[in-house]
Amino acid sequence: MAKVAVLGHGVVGSGVVELFHKNKHSIESKAGQPMEVKYILDIRDFPNLPYSDRFTKDFQVILNDPEISVVAEVMGGLSPAFDYVKSLLEHGKSVVTSNKELVAAKGAQLLHIAREHNVNFFFEASVGGGIPIIRPMHQCLAANEISEIAGILNGTTNFILTKMIHDQMGFDEALKMAQQLGYAERNPAADIEGHDTCRKICILASLAFGSHVYPNTVHTEGITKLTLEDVAYAEDWGGVIKLIGRARRLPDGTLSAGVFPAFIAEHSQLANIDDVFNGVLIRGDATGDVVFYGRGAGKFPTASAVVADMIDVAKANTTSKSLCWEDSDGNQVVDIETVPFSFYLRLTSPRDESFPAAVKALIPEAGELHRKNQPADEWAFVTPAMPEQELKKLLDELLRPGDKLLTRIRILDY
Ligand code: HSE
Repeated sequence: MAKVAVLGHGVVGSGVVELFHKNKHSIESKAGQPMEVKYILDIRDFPNLPYSDRFTKDFQVILNDPEISVVAEVMGGLSPAFDYVKSLLEHGKSVVTSNKELVAAKGAQLLHIAREHNVNFFFEASVGGGIPIIRPMHQCLAANEISEIAGILNGTTNFILTKMIHDQMGFDEALKMAQQLGYAERNPAADIEGHDTCRKICILASLAFGSHVYPNTVHTEGITKLTLEDVAYAEDWGGVIKLIGRARRLPDGTLSAGVFPAFIAEHSQLANIDDVFNGVLIRGDATGDVVFYGRGAGKFPTASAVVADMIDVAKANTTSKSLCWEDSDGNQVVDIETVPFSFYLRLTSPRDESFPAAVKALIPEAGELHRKNQPADEWAFVTPAMPEQELKKLLDELLRPGDKLLTRIRILDY
């Protein structure tokens, strides 16, 4: 019999407890033993639930109960989650979590503590919601050298972009819908400013490349500056705009990592991942590209991954050897401005046809884009691949008083 505890009864935590009740029989048969939720930690009272007797407000009760072998941390945030998880591992209890902020900030340390105490720290639900991605990466793709990961990793922003692209819905209305559907973070700035995607690509990159990639080393842009005009130019180019988290191993062993909106060609597998769905492309030297697709946020998809981890932990009798990476000083991640990309540029200039002529004099391979109702003083181009630091120098040369760069978006080729 595995007695388990759940820390937090929010969107994901309530989903975990409900899944345990709903699918009790199949969960227990897969775990090979009875499993029971003995405690649910929350500061609130839930008197009308069928399992209201399991609630406690005292973490110490869970920490000091020798019957508890597995704990799901689904509170989110770093404090008190980090202290709780660390103490639980040190007390010989395995922990599973959906908390990407925790894993991205403290993963190397917590994995090390888990190893020292011969328990497990699993976090399948921290990336891609219900999509199996962590376990396939360190188990099924174990024979590969992974060279690159690129993904749509945030359901909220993908939902918003989809509504903007297909329904011409405004940004604020789409965000509100994503919040009502339980996709968004408590503070949705983490979604729309790209930090949630950043945490997820850090987790995947740490696992793929073996050393901790810290979020503050990864260039991060969100979607708040995107406009329907940019969406229209992307369509003229032959694609859509997606918020992408990307990490790539460079030939000298360093990493290029970043989170940014990108033009993605309409024939790419990533272009057709819409709504709350996430998609992650992993490039292995043996497999080539493998793409994972599914619901990236929401109560039950995320709870599904948490419960699966709890089942695996209940079955395990030792620490996973493959789910690990080393700590790092963060110097393995290079400055993104040194990495070449093609760029889409939207500019305004009071100059007439002399403006595109000036652009082409500086960047001869620049291609022009057009949209319906394009104002006479608005111009859009795509550049050949170049490091952003070079692009900035060219723009300094180009732009005169009255000219303005409105948007610059990277172009990816998947
Ligand atoms: N806010 C996150 C998202 C939740 O929208 O993807 C799942 O991590």
